[in-house]
Amino acid sequence: MKIILMGPPGAGKGTQAEVLVSKLSIPHISTGDMFRAAIKNQTSLGLKAKEYMDAGALVPDEVTIGIVEERLGEEDCRNGFLLDGFPRTVAQADALAEILARQGMTLDGVINIQVDQEKLIARLTGRRVCRQCGATYHILFSAPAQEGACDKCGGELYQRSDDSEATARNRMNVYNEQTEPLITYYKSKGVLLDIDGDQPIEAVLADIMSSLGKSL
Ligand code: AP5
Ligand code: MG
Ligand code: ZN
Repeated sequence: MKIILMGPPGAGKGTQAEVLVSKLSIPHISTGDMFRAAIKNQTSLGLKAKEYMDAGALVPDEVTIGIVEERLGEEDCRNGFLLDGFPRTVAQADALAEILARQGMTLDGVINIQVDQEKLIARLTGRRVCRQCGATYHILFSAPAQEGACDKCGGELYQRSDDSEATARNRMNVYNEQTEPLITYYKSKGVLLDIDGDQPIEAVLADIMSSLGKSL
């Protein structure tokens, strides 16, 4: 399946992606994760992306489109993929449409996870991520068994540097201005699947699977 996961910061894209990609056996392509890995490894991509991410702004389209195009060209994407956090601008969506058309691919669905903005700030400021395996937790809503340690691998949990309240609010504004127009964009193409993201994690997953016509 070829799927896009859309939704504001903190909607639960990464949380749902973690399970969806294993159920559907497709690669998880998260531009945010790719940029964070590049920053950690101090590559030239990381150097370009860091100042934008620290400010909660979008990395320029030409940089972002380039890395996604390269990733989608890899062998493991032939039979499907899950894009998480891309596209985020109309220019990125147009570029994606061209890339897919060139490869003779069509999208199966664009999952739009909806949650009220005030709830999102609480989700972001309480998020913790495993340094080792990338699993996502929340100090209140999805706490690990032992504080500060990953249930899956025992790795250390850390707080993302863009999860301060001020930066999270800025990311929300950027989403409203630049990414929200994509809801109409994909609705008009008849591929948008609206999902209520303000439910327990398992219920959101069940709704996503059934919207894709898959059983859990
Ligand atoms: P990115 O990493 O994509 O961040 P984001 O879009 O802001 O989304 P998040 O990862 O913060 O939220 P999420 O929806 O994945 O939520 P999660 O599942 O973790 O991008 C970061 C930056 O990279 C951008 O600001 C930009 O600079 C750059 N970038 C990335 N892509 C780009 C692009 N295409 N173009 C340009 N720049 C780009 O969940 C959040 C929390 O809520 C967790 O603690 C989780 O445990 C909890 N939670 C999840 N589901 C539930 C639930 N159902 N109930 C209660 N709590 C829940
Ligand atoms: Mg994420
Ligand atoms: Zn872990």
